[in-house]
Amino acid sequence: MDDFCVVSGPSSKGIAKKMAEELRARLIDVEYKTFPDGENYVRIEEQWIAKYSVLVQSTSPPQDKNLMQLFLISDLLRDLGSKVVAVVPYLAYARQHRMYLNGEAISIKTVARLLEASGVVRFLTVDIHNVEGLGYFTIPANSISAVPILAEYFKNNFDVSNMIAVAPDEGAKVRVETFSMRVGCEYLVMEKTRDRISGVIRSQLKSQADLKGKDIVIVDDLISTGGSIAEASKILTSLGAASISVACTHAILANNAVAKMKESGVKDIVATDTIQTEYSKVSVGHLLSDFIRRL
Ligand code: R5P
Repeated sequence: MDDFCVVSGPSSKGIAKKMAEELRARLIDVEYKTFPDGENYVRIEEQWIAKYSVLVQSTSPPQDKNLMQLFLISDLLRDLGSKVVAVVPYLAYARQHRMYLNGEAISIKTVARLLEASGVVRFLTVDIHNVEGLGYFTIPANSISAVPILAEYFKNNFDVSNMIAVAPDEGAKVRVETFSMRVGCEYLVMEKTRDRISGVIRSQLKSQADLKGKDIVIVDDLISTGGSIAEASKILTSLGAASISVACTHAILANNAVAKMKESGVKDIVATDTIQTEYSKVSVGHLLSDFIRRL
């Protein structure tokens, strides 16, 4: 892309600013408000937009509001004559990428269709829940991994000499492999089942392991209710682990997730800024800029 600007979506102003600085691109702000009835309003004052707009907008909670703003801004940019490259650091609705029970909506498919209908010509996210979700896009769509920067943070800020990385379920296996390779520690994969109706989680260790005195880091893509991490933490603590930390990309932290994890023995939570929280210790801004620079 030779001619582009960065458009700062209301939910990702920090990352957008960082990207514009790194890419030396013009940063375009979006004016926004919510009407008393809950509907969204957006406006871009500038009339001269570049050929391509890198629109940065995370669809973190409140997901529906942030998604609606994303659709409105994208459609507006198209009306202003720009091609939209959507950078969505946290992509909501990606956990339902297939029909687990008969009759369920495949939510990521609907989101992909709506993004394309709103004028998005290229899509980029971070650690999508399952790469199968990218298959629903007909435009070029990529997910980049934040695991290397999380691993780097652990190497620089934790004693990793006695560490074991743990995947709380099979879905996190590739992530934990990458993490452990970067940190230089062993890893284990747990088995997790979630009742599709009640949501009750059961976890167990698939293999025998001596965890006595080990520092454990549980690696996952996201923390929502904290249930998966808390279940894993209880088991690992009962097996003699000396400490439990968590490395995750997206800290949604719904309801009392933090309290639940702390009660189960979790000491530290390290997350990225795809969703800005007090646990956002590393930024994905540089990773995203690097990807955009190569387009
Ligand atoms: C599941 O497959 C995901 O990778 C996460 O482990 C899960 O979605 C986290 O949800 P919760 O925090 O509610 O257990």
